[in-house]
Amino acid sequence: MKKTFLILGAVVIFMASFTKADLAKEKSAVATATMANHAFQSNPGEKLINKNDCLGCHNKTNKIIGPAYVDIAKKYPATEKNINMLADKIIKGGTGVWGNMPMTAHATLKKDDAKLMVKYILSLKKK
Ligand code: HEC
Repeated sequence: MKKTFLILGAVVIFMASFTKADLAKEKSAVATATMANHAFQSNPGEKLINKNDCLGCHNKTNKIIGPAYVDIAKKYPATEKNINMLADKIIKGGTGVWGNMPMTAHATLKKDDAKLMVKYILSLKKK
């Protein structure tokens, strides 16, 4: 009888330690994911996009009114020339490249900020 209790006790202790180790593993996985998420969100271009009205017409992966960012990234290599051209287009607005829908002008945007946004968008190219 005593022996059974001892064995049961050992099993319980074993299971308890196992669960603890599992929990710790899970916690560190969550921490890693959170950190990755933070690094991702601290991209200055993405922050600017979140602060502006871009998301009303653009989505990262799906076309809404404007083209998906991944499609824009696929179309344009991240050259200085393209970054400049696209930054100007965001500031001035325009139409005709992706269809008949116009992009509104963003006249108050600084060119440097528009370039940061473009750099972020073009970085979304699928590898
Ligand atoms: C009113 C809706 C709307 C808003 C707001 C908007 N866009 Fe657009 N965007 C469009 C449309 C429509 C196009 C496609 C224009 C075309 O066919 O020439 C486009 C195209 C683009 C392109 C590709 C341009 C090209 O010539 O290929 C980029 C880059 C872009 N948008 C970035 C942005 C950013 C960054 C913002 C926020 C500052 C923004 N857009 C806000 C509708 C919008």
